[in-house]
Amino acid sequence: MKQVKATRYYRVDREHPAPDVIEAAARVIRGGGTVAFPTETVYGLGANGLDPEAVEKIFRAKGRPRGNPLILHVSSLDQARGLVAAWPPEAETLARLFLPGPLTLILPRAPVVPDVVTAGLPSVALRYPAHPVALALIEASGVPIAAPSANLSGHPSPTCAAHVRSDLDGRIDVILDGGPTEVGLESTILSLTGDRPVLLRPGGVTREQIEKALGVEVKLHEAVLTGRPRPENPEKGAGSEATAVAPCPGLFFKHYAPRARVIMVTGDPDRQAAKIGDYLNSHQDLRIGVLATEENAVSYRESTIPPAHLEILGSRRNPPEIASRFFGALRNCDDHEVDIILVETIPAAGIGLAVMNRLCRAAENRAI
Ligand code: TXA
Ligand code: MG
Repeated sequence: MKQVKATRYYRVDREHPAPDVIEAAARVIRGGGTVAFPTETVYGLGANGLDPEAVEKIFRAKGRPRGNPLILHVSSLDQARGLVAAWPPEAETLARLFLPGPLTLILPRAPVVPDVVTAGLPSVALRYPAHPVALALIEASGVPIAAPSANLSGHPSPTCAAHVRSDLDGRIDVILDGGPTEVGLESTILSLTGDRPVLLRPGGVTREQIEKALGVEVKLHEAVLTGRPRPENPEKGAGSEATAVAPCPGLFFKHYAPRARVIMVTGDPDRQAAKIGDYLNSHQDLRIGVLATEENAVSYRESTIPPAHLEILGSRRNPPEIASRFFGALRNCDDHEVDIILVETIPAAGIGLAVMNRLCRAAENRAI
């Protein structure tokens, strides 16, 4: 796709973003342009969420399929309430506990929300991010900001401005560089449109936290851990009951994929180390990258056939650290031009569920 424009690039202080830079970016939003900005999860690519032509530019810049709706970002709960047809008690409870923060709520939409944002769905996704730069930008713009992750469609989400640049430089108007993001995986998405809450995408606010807050079981959309949603009509019982109540178009698209082929490695940690060692031995003709936990890294470093590239994700005792480094590690492997990326798996609990969801999808379920 062709380069279209010079992208303006600004560094901003995370805690105290310079008002003149925020105002310049807000002017671009109000004028119908596109601005990449940091949130606590990943970088977003924003445009005026009430302006269909501006929102179109997001789809074009990312090469995003039109059927995949966008999240509207707000800087207050009042602004969120103005975009929905109903604000149920569950939304109020969760908002009080977790917002601003990495939780997106799906609620019935208000008529003011354009079709292009929701891809024609009767619901809208709302997110109130906990990042000073994101909040300052939304507030200064005076409109809700529609923003998907600021990557080319299908690529891993960007956790720093360099990732945004590498995907979107020349295709968007502005990049605000507020440093690396903290959570490193996209927000939790919870649908509150059916009889019961359904988790469509695990993230920084965990399923366990939501269940405790609401005092009910939270259903997992069937595609969360299979990584293999069923594209055939989800409305007509193709999937589980949960699928029928809460379609999540994003689950139907190829995602998070680096150039190299990703393979997940299962079993207890010692077994994973042994499998990776065997794989390195028996595939010496390939350039292999390994995403390892700290605990196992030494065994690859010292192996007779070391990997072409080794990325240490963090300690098994610290899953949030693993989450925060995951997307960057996939991109680094591509920079080292490996053919295969072997990734150690971790238990799918807490934030580990979010890591395993992204990994299953990046690997398209390939596992050894
Ligand atoms: O952390 C995040 O959520 C980041 C930052 C930038 O805020 N944003 C993000 O957006 O991850 P995106 O577009 O990459 O993912 C949004 C997901 C998509 O899978 C989309 O299908 C789903 O949200 N979605 C949006 N509106 C929806 C709706 N009305 N019903 C169901 N799913 C919806
Ligand atoms: Mg995305």
